[in-house]
Amino acid sequence: MATIFVPKETHAGERRTAATPETVKRLIKDGHAVVIERGAGALAHYADADYEAAGARISSDSSAIGDADVVAQFSVPSASLLGRMKLGSSIISFLWAPENLDAVRALAARDLSAFAMDSLPRSTRAQKDDALTSQASLAGYKAVLLAATHLPKIFPMQMTPAGTIRPARVVILGAGVAGLQAIATARRLGAIVEVSDIRPEVKEQVQSLGATYIEVPGTVAAGSGGYAAEQTDEFRRKQQEVLRERILAADVVITTALIPYRPAPKLVLEGVVAAMRPGSVIVDLAAERGGNVEGTEPGRTIVKGGVTIIGDLQLAGTVATHATDQYAKNVQNVLSDATKKGVFGWDLADEIVAAALVVHRGDVRHARTRELLGLPPAPPAAATLPPSATP
Ligand code: NAI
Repeated sequence: MATIFVPKETHAGERRTAATPETVKRLIKDGHAVVIERGAGALAHYADADYEAAGARISSDSSAIGDADVVAQFSVPSASLLGRMKLGSSIISFLWAPENLDAVRALAARDLSAFAMDSLPRSTRAQKDDALTSQASLAGYKAVLLAATHLPKIFPMQMTPAGTIRPARVVILGAGVAGLQAIATARRLGAIVEVSDIRPEVKEQVQSLGATYIEVPGTVAAGSGGYAAEQTDEFRRKQQEVLRERILAADVVITTALIPYRPAPKLVLEGVVAAMRPGSVIVDLAAERGGNVEGTEPGRTIVKGGVTIIGDLQLAGTVATHATDQYAKNVQNVLSDATKKGVFGWDLADEIVAAALVVHRGDVRHARTRELLGLPPAPPAAATLPPSATP
């Protein structure tokens, strides 16, 4: 049995949390005890009384952190939170280890383990745990609604006695999880949708959602694990040419293009933004990683030459109830898989744990993070450690 503590998120503006009354019930059924900090679910509209009714204990502050075997939260943990965790315990949260080396150092210093929700393999088995997917899908949906709200036009075609209103034209750059949901949402609202990506396998998915795939001539560099890779200058130039024309004909541009652990590629250059029709709207979902659009201000909505550029961060957090439902379920699946007959422990032979447990009992296992910390590469054995029942 493990004691799982869910603190109130302290990251400014974060409304999501790592448990719902539903997942609490399941964790208790697995044999665990769950402690929720008072008010942890309030911003996602989950009441303390409902967690309590599900079997959790409510703690009036975060002091229960020191007794927990597992701390589960959404945001990257602060060094101060990690400093209060029990020696040898684990945290499950987003971590983005290579960008949060202070947190990694704090984990390593205290014999802690970290299961990073941003580091799961993109395998079929990992889908139920995949928080990047669950959150990106909600963000894609919300991006379209935001664009529709800011656009001084409507999305669907309307034939009225006063004339025909033409449907809005939407260009979506990047058809991963967020992009595909954005396509589906924009189509449901009646827009004409055109889409660009660099992974050739995307074309069919785009077309099956009723959108047009923008072809860019030339070879693309392939990434690994189903992800995109950085492209050659030659390809980028051709892509710019083709995209410029499609973007200038559009009312809305939604950008979602990302390359793991790299700054977002710049796909909409300043000159193109300046040439867009006044009243057009851009939603840059890549804002958090620098943005796909030149001029995006992360966290802000600005108007440039009549074009609205929305750089909201954490869009999924604005639909906090569903985002929490999904995230909490992802976390509970991770915990349930790591619990055998009521005993919780990380099994490093499991491909999901092997990838996502970026720190295990103080040992930094994530290759790129080790490099950034100036640590020698992990011995090859680390990748194939025998099954372990150590928390
Ligand atoms: P992502 O968030 O890393 O990137 C979004 C999209 O941007 C991708 O489709 C990517 O190809 C595209 N992109 C990158 N650079 C670009 C450029 N220069 N121009 C145009 N587009 C560009 O991707 P996401 O949403 O995380 O999905 C990546 C892949 O992983 C997809 O194939 C997805 O279906 C797959 N996946 C598999 C899962 C599983 O099996 N567990 C779960 C989630 C995703």
